[in-house]
Amino acid sequence: TVEQGTLLEQIRVWKEKRNALILAHNYELPEVQDVADVLGDSLALARAAAKTSADVIVLCGVHFMAETAAILNPDKTVLLPDAEAGCSLADSITADQLRAWKAEHPGAVVVSYVNTSAEVKAESDYCCTSANAVDVVRSIPTDKEVLFCPDMFLGSYVKRMTGRENMHIWLGECHVHAGIAPADIADTLAAHPQAELLIHPECGCSTSNMYLLAEGQLPADRTHVLSTSGMLERAKTSGQDEFIVATEVGILHQMERQNPHKRFIPANRKAICPFMKMITLEKVLASLVEMRTIISVPVETAQRARIALERMVEIG
Ligand code: 13P
Ligand code: SF4
Repeated sequence: TVEQGTLLEQIRVWKEKRNALILAHNYELPEVQDVADVLGDSLALARAAAKTSADVIVLCGVHFMAETAAILNPDKTVLLPDAEAGCSLADSITADQLRAWKAEHPGAVVVSYVNTSAEVKAESDYCCTSANAVDVVRSIPTDKEVLFCPDMFLGSYVKRMTGRENMHIWLGECHVHAGIAPADIADTLAAHPQAELLIHPECGCSTSNMYLLAEGQLPADRTHVLSTSGMLERAKTSGQDEFIVATEVGILHQMERQNPHKRFIPANRKAICPFMKMITLEKVLASLVEMRTIISVPVETAQRARIALERMVEIG
């Protein structure tokens, strides 16, 4: 539309004026994905934030992602176009709760999923994303106890993949992924028996699916547990032409665009993250014009969180 064309043009002008880089997560609205300089999963966005020479980073995603960019870039201005864009998973553990948990397990190594507040990261030894969680836990000496937070489904997946007995898992979840149930997979697979399964490890179905997989009740050669960027890569390289996608539905935009002749079926059409969808083109423009909302992290918290984050960016 003419209106959208004008918006896009203005965003381009203001982006140059501010020497800004626009980063967007794979779950953003299609038009926001299209305006991004870098589109990716949590790990890719953190990496892009860590190496940019831009003065301003506009983070089209949720609050913890903007904090991550700010921690990795203390000298840059990080803008979140809607300051209310939070994350139910990040909210499922506070720094006080983590401190109390650590006190119960002296000497344990804390691995936090990147979906956590800066304060929780500051209390952690390692951060990880869905793309490198298994590698991060594998890198920890086996005689050390591991505290994994906050996602219980990703935690169970990592525990199974690493075979690690001395790993304790926090009982947090993302309300969007928790809502993708084993029955959603079973029903969609019954309707599309030849499809390949792409499952995000945050899903409520991921734990039970791993057991089904182990028992041979799911097609092992056609079931893949992956991060959002891992799913996009698999969709491109797989010889299959039909896929069941168990994650937030925003990812279908890139899948369909990159693979116009393949078919993508969401496991649950209602898996929509309300926080990711808060970012609109209007808000992206307003954030550049008005330089808001600036996300910053107190220096001492940032210094401690950076150690855990840099380990995450290095591994996997
Ligand atoms: P990834 O894109 O890293 O797989 O994470 C999914 C997610 O829920 C981000 O909030
Ligand atoms: Fe958080 Fe879930 Fe939304 Fe990702 S999809 S930002 S984990 S609420």
